[in-house]
Amino acid sequence: TWTSVNIVEEQVERIRAEVGDARVISALSGGVDSAVSTALVQRAVGDQLTAVFVDHGLLRQGEAEQVEKDYVLATGVDLKVVDAKDQFLGFLDGVTDPEEKRKIIGREFIRVFEAAEREVLATPGPPVKYLVQGTLYPDVVESGGGEGAANIKSHHNVGGLPDDLEFSLIEPLRTLFKDEVRQVGRQLGIPEAIVGRHPFPGPGLAIRIVGAVSAERLEILRAADAIVREETAAAGLDHDIWQFPVVLLADVRSVGVQGDGRTYGHPIVLRPVSSEDAMTADWSRLPYEVLERISTRITNEVDEVNRVVLDITSKPPGTIEWE
Ligand code: XMP
Repeated sequence: TWTSVNIVEEQVERIRAEVGDARVISALSGGVDSAVSTALVQRAVGDQLTAVFVDHGLLRQGEAEQVEKDYVLATGVDLKVVDAKDQFLGFLDGVTDPEEKRKIIGREFIRVFEAAEREVLATPGPPVKYLVQGTLYPDVVESGGGEGAANIKSHHNVGGLPDDLEFSLIEPLRTLFKDEVRQVGRQLGIPEAIVGRHPFPGPGLAIRIVGAVSAERLEILRAADAIVREETAAAGLDHDIWQFPVVLLADVRSVGVQGDGRTYGHPIVLRPVSSEDAMTADWSRLPYEVLERISTRITNEVDEVNRVVLDITSKPPGTIEWE
């Protein structure tokens, strides 16, 4: 019978037998799949595993710290953090086209990850033979998806590395569905803030800023998004919502009034959706009181934002994300 305990024991044994004395490398994205697959491999081979977390600066408030501190503390993973925030911001400077943003982020992610890989390879020790991937059963079936920028399988050997270097993949979640992965993650002691996380796109907040990405705009969006997450969690709504993109219309300004003064600020779009698989989605009928609290708090607490609007488009014809 299926239990998360059985899965952990089974996978730990299998991975240990396969890896032997070799070293293993893994990419953490901040998402559930890479967090659980990496923790499973760590449980099996300990410090033979080096996990790499590329901080591209496009995660939500507190998420990088959750990986760097809470996750490491809970799992004992040997983590190499690469602060690539400035590099990503630099390449994204002035870019407004959504697909162009995706291309740049994907490309830079691979570049930074491979540089980290080379550093790990250069440290003394047994050969690095394996790469961990958080592939889930639905990914196997559809052979798509994964975790966006962290889905590096097809890229892991482009450019920079010796041609004859081939990693074998370790994919300990290949037979599991998302809710099973979460159970395994809890079994492994991964913090709920990571295990319970909603799906989040690899390119992160960059595709939730309609317009060019900048440090200031990321700050605005992070603050608004944090309020949304606090209020939906406090209202106990997280399980009813599939995903809740919060979008900054950075190139739109509208007139408002605050105190005695006229404001000229940006709108924030709320995009809560319910869905089974992200292929189709419906807008979530959130309680008005929750929407009201979110709106009041965002306009009071986030400078530059003077209007909060609700997206009531289903998918199709809308997509979940705005870019
Ligand atoms: P859309 O916006 O197409 O999104 O309805 C469907 C699902 O995919 C996620 N998404 C992405 N995930 N890289 C990712 O890893 C991306 O570039 C990307 N774009 C959209 C989106 O959050 C939703 O879950």
